Amino acid sequence: MAGTTTTDRGSWNSKLGFVLAAAGSAVGLGNIWAFPTKVATEGGAAYLLIYLLCTFAIGFPVMVAEITIGRKSGKNPVGAFKAISSSKFFPLVGLWGVICGVMILSFYTVVAGWAFGFAFEEIFYFLASSELLQNLFGGIGWESYSASMKGAADWLTDTGNGFKNAIIATVFMLGTIKIITAGVSDGIERATKAMMPLLIGIIVVMIIYVLLQPGSAEGVSIYLLPDFSKINAGLIFSAMGQAFFSLSLGMGALITYGSYLNKKENIPQAAAFVTLADVGIAFLAGLLIVPAMYLAQSQGININAGGSLASSTDLVFQILPALFHTIGGSVGMLLGVTFFLLLSIAALTSTISLLEVPVSYVIDEFEVQRKKAAWMVGLGILVVSITVAFFPALIGWFDYLFSTIGLPLGGFLICLFVGYVWKTDQALNEMEYGFAGIKQTLFSKVWPVFIKYICPAAILYNLISNFI
Ligand code: PHE
Repeated sequence: MAGTTTTDRGSWNSKLGFVLAAAGSAVGLGNIWAFPTKVATEGGAAYLLIYLLCTFAIGFPVMVAEITIGRKSGKNPVGAFKAISSSKFFPLVGLWGVICGVMILSFYTVVAGWAFGFAFEEIFYFLASSELLQNLFGGIGWESYSASMKGAADWLTDTGNGFKNAIIATVFMLGTIKIITAGVSDGIERATKAMMPLLIGIIVVMIIYVLLQPGSAEGVSIYLLPDFSKINAGLIFSAMGQAFFSLSLGMGALITYGSYLNKKENIPQAAAFVTLADVGIAFLAGLLIVPAMYLAQSQGININAGGSLASSTDLVFQILPALFHTIGGSVGMLLGVTFFLLLSIAALTSTISLLEVPVSYVIDEFEVQRKKAAWMVGLGILVVSITVAFFPALIGWFDYLFSTIGLPLGGFLICLFVGYVWKTDQALNEMEYGFAGIKQTLFSKVWPVFIKYICPAAILYNLISNFI
């Protein structure tokens, strides 16, 4: 049936479902691929502190604003601004969010594809080098067998291989589309509910393993002992961008997820859970990866690319696989497979939310049925993805334009909208449904100050100081 009314847009089955889906959106490559390296290369614990400050003082208030806009309007980011105000400008802010979502998704699937490919690389590497298998072969045909396994592993390792990148990114995108076609509660909610607990379990087990190895201690101290001399404008800008990206803010992902939220749910509380889950997992990922990096060094693996510490691509896609190979045997393989599956799961719960934004836009604004919208939009983005797969240098450009600049800019405009167009008092009225007596709380005094003054000023200052 073409033509969608608000009742068949879908909704979450439970508050836990919303929190896990939103946390799933937040927890992704940003937490496990980008954050730990930024901490390691840009000032260790000093970066961590500034990051936490950005998350709680800027990110959290904006998250509350986004979810509230979504629930009030029951619409995608473009429709939401249209529904709440008569402004001609703000729907364009929603559209900018949709564009950022599309462009971020196009490179995100390529990086996610690398991670997914490496899970198999670890298996092929094991099959190529296992002594047990070699003994079983009894020498006959081992050489050529091992060489072909090694060939498969090497193929998967090559992040510059456009053809390989395109194939795996396509698999990843098709999986994402499939989940989105099943709808909000049967697709997104069900998938994230299954994946999030698995993700947390894996990360905890891996931390325990790494911290028990001699050689990991240096990483722990770099991660946890701050060197305040490292704090400068560049670090603060980077930490703020990272906070926006990691919390999925500034492009309407949480407006969209909020639009499926029941009136009886408490928005500030749900946002607090999501923020804590995101920060908690970023913190754990740092505690896993920074020590693992120094563990790799203690095993003789070079962690300094060109004199400085490795970039995130090197760290996750070169140093860690080298570490797993050095550990070797079935333990090395298991660690490797588990780590890259962890990364793939985290990425999938994020690509779902990135695709849901443009899909909900097409469903609401052009009255297209969900299945059709998901395939049309998903395959359209796949074309961009495949281009990125062949020209991985685009990743840096897209990331800079649409995440580092695009998301804080979107967040800034969302603050202006809630603070000065819709008005924070109206937003508090919307929150009141699931939070009786909110206007008598300290939150209702403090949050408006952040949305009207502190967040927009901090974001603007950072954006400008980045350019001069
Ligand atoms: N938060 C995700 C991550 O950390 C990325 C993302 C950004 C997802 C914006 C949705 C919207 O990987």
